[in-house]
Amino acid sequence: MSYVRSVFLSEELDSRSYLAKIPAVTALMRGERIPLDAPVTVFVGENGTGKSTLIEAIAVAYGFNPEGGTKNSNFSTEQSHSELWKHLTLVKGKRARDGFFLRAESFYNFASNLDQLDRQPAASPLLIKSYGGVSLHQQSHGESFLRLVQYRFSGGGLYILDEPEAALSPMRLLTLLAEIDQLVKADSQFIIATHSPILMAYPGARVLELSEDGIRQVDYRETEHFRCSKDFYTDPDRMIHYLLK
Ligand SMILES: Nc1ncnc2c1ncn2[C@@H]1O[C@H](COP(=O)(O)OP(=O)(O)O)[C@@H](O)[C@H]1O
Ligand SMILES: [Mg+2]
Repeated sequence: MSYVRSVFLSEELDSRSYLAKIPAVTALMRGERIPLDAPVTVFVGENGTGKSTLIEAIAVAYGFNPEGGTKNSNFSTEQSHSELWKHLTLVKGKRARDGFFLRAESFYNFASNLDQLDRQPAASPLLIKSYGGVSLHQQSHGESFLRLVQYRFSGGGLYILDEPEAALSPMRLLTLLAEIDQLVKADSQFIIATHSPILMAYPGARVLELSEDGIRQVDYRETEHFRCSKDFYTDPDRMIHYLLK
């Protein structure tokens, strides 16, 4: 299922803006259209290539709170999101029933906001019930993140995740992969920015690599992330030896 089928730049961007120097944005300025019509789209690329900028702009253009959360979340702590979203056009499919935008940096604020809303007398039933019942602050980052996916993501949704691996142990990352699969089978769409070769390996994921050369679809095994991890795990001693000599 795809709720957002593609995205392109429809309004000119000031070439003096810092945005115009970000590889992902430069590609859009050259007229590249980003296909999103796979159940799972994965953006990979070096730090600074614009993964976060891009998926945040897609999320905001779709109507999510730039700080992360659901379409109903409206908490705001720091206005740090870019104006890129105003210049994008999303080609949309069917309307999504559910959705969530997760920024690793603002998950903490999202959890605080949820606790805060539940402390208000008017809030009944408690919002936290749809997140597994335990304050997201009373769990580890990884536990609360997985609970969010397991309890709150209900399917038929558009889920936009920025580096979801940040919180997760390898075992939990595999659990996340299985959860993603369940949700995809329940008509969901995922747009993910990640450095994790495990997440890239989701069958049928479209892996889009952002670089100075533009946006390129690749096999996950070709990515720097996969090759570098593989080389390391094949012979850690050897790699450490060359690295630290
Ligand atoms: N407010 C800003 N002003 C100037 N440069 C910025 C601003 N926000 C982000 N950048 C730059 O934009 C680039 C892309 O950032 P980001 O999208 O976070 O990359 P990625 O997620 O791929 O690591 C980075 O080089 C970053 O320094
Ligand atoms: Mg990022």
